[in-house]
Amino acid sequence: MPSFKEYSLTLAEPLLLMSMILAYTLLSQPLLLLKAPSSFRSKWFERMYVYLGPQLASSPLQIDYIESVMSQAHGLVLELGPGNGDQTFHLKANKIEKVYGAEPNEHFHASLVAKAKEIGLGDKYLPMKAGAEPQSLLPALQDAGLLPGTMTRLPEEGVFDSIVTIKSMCSVPQAQLPETMEVIRALLKPGGQFLFFEHLQSDASFITQCYVWIFNLFLWPALIGGCRLDGKLDKVIAGMSGWKTRNMENIREYQGHEVFRYMQGVCTKA
Ligand SMILES: C[S@@+](CC[C@H](N)C(=O)[O-])C[C@H]1O[C@@H](n2cnc3c(N)ncnc32)[C@H](O)[C@@H]1O
Repeated sequence: MPSFKEYSLTLAEPLLLMSMILAYTLLSQPLLLLKAPSSFRSKWFERMYVYLGPQLASSPLQIDYIESVMSQAHGLVLELGPGNGDQTFHLKANKIEKVYGAEPNEHFHASLVAKAKEIGLGDKYLPMKAGAEPQSLLPALQDAGLLPGTMTRLPEEGVFDSIVTIKSMCSVPQAQLPETMEVIRALLKPGGQFLFFEHLQSDASFITQCYVWIFNLFLWPALIGGCRLDGKLDKVIAGMSGWKTRNMENIREYQGHEVFRYMQGVCTKA
């Protein structure tokens, strides 16, 4: 049973993050809504993430786990939701043929390309304006020439050696997650790996679940680019067939009451 202090600290975590975001917006971007009303949401998230992304990416509580997952990416790679490219430095350029980044927010694309160059990937990082959901991802892969223009089903031999995602699958509408993961597995070559580090639903504590439910109603997704605190990636993967191995584990000595349950995973396609 967590102490009162432990509970208070975990419940304060999203509040603190949101206060930082609101303060940052009010102080540095007060006129953004007036200046860019049509693209306000994506532009605002991009500006905010330029500030927040590097801080989250350098968190000593997560950096080693993300390194251990991302550094395994090799060959032809698909990265889902790479954002600003704050995690790109974990990729090992000498193991990589090319990376396609499915990032729906176009405002991040220039920075993604620049960060890939910094780590020696040259022109091998190609951003695509797409989400991870099949209806968005598959046309982008067709446009990139990785899938045939007309097809009735995905190629049996797959396409990618590695598909990697860091804290992005929480932004995929959770009702579409099973279908999204089926396509992601199909896009891997046999023996290819799905590599992830994500925050997932923490369902051990009733108090935390109620708290998360309130945050998920509108506050959190609206402020954090569609992110939800009740991600179910682990449950979806556990219910799927077609994996040779599914190594998924909680990090940070998860005790059950935390709002953010982080998990790292390496799943190999059969
Ligand atoms: C919390 S940020 C993480 C960015 C980056 N992976 C990192 O760790 O620094 C979430 C990212 O997911 C992207 N995203 C939003 N909806 C998405 C979707 N449906 N599919 C894939 N990515 C999405 C956002 O644009 C954003 O760049």
